[in-house]
Amino acid sequence: MKVIRLHDLEFEMFIAPEQINETVGRLALAINHDYQGRNPILLIVLNGAFVFAADLVRRLSIPLQMDFVKLRSYLGTASTGSIHEHFLWESSLKDRHIIIVEDIIDTGHTLHHLVGKVAAEGPASIETACLLLKPAARQYPDPVKYCGMEMPNDFVVGYGLDYDGLGREIAGIYKKI
Ligand code: IMP
Ligand code: MG
Repeated sequence: MKVIRLHDLEFEMFIAPEQINETVGRLALAINHDYQGRNPILLIVLNGAFVFAADLVRRLSIPLQMDFVKLRSYLGTASTGSIHEHFLWESSLKDRHIIIVEDIIDTGHTLHHLVGKVAAEGPASIETACLLLKPAARQYPDPVKYCGMEMPNDFVVGYGLDYDGLGREIAGIYKKI
């Protein structure tokens, strides 16, 4: 089996690119169906969600806009419990339908923080799309309408996800051995 080494850790194949592709297709189908005529703003959470978002938006066939926020909560392989905002969106979110696009939801702290900030702008609606969710790690109850896959409480890299800056460019998702 292929093993990848990043810094001091080793990772093994967990989700193949074909399976990610199928999952993104399924999420896109649901969003296309639900957001007809609503011109949503996809609020993409950098850095990690950039690969997922790039694949997702190219499978959406509805009119939409995109904006970006850059937040950080992770250091190494653990959630730190404090959120650093590098920057927030540029567009007006007032009366708009917002879809937050996240790579992975671990404790849910980042999402909870962002939902609070977005809600304060007076949007018409807020939903979340994420590729991966770790139910056993979750500490915040914010609903996630479009969830690609649930996974165990493992640390993963690839497809936008990093371990201290490395591994984002890997096509599949690998988990720590
Ligand atoms: P939360 O605030 O604990 O939900 O953590 C969410 C953020 O931490 C995500 O947006 C990711 O950037 C990062 N993260 C969580 N789990 C992992 C992982 O397994 N690998 C890499 N990054 C992760
Ligand atoms: Mg992230």
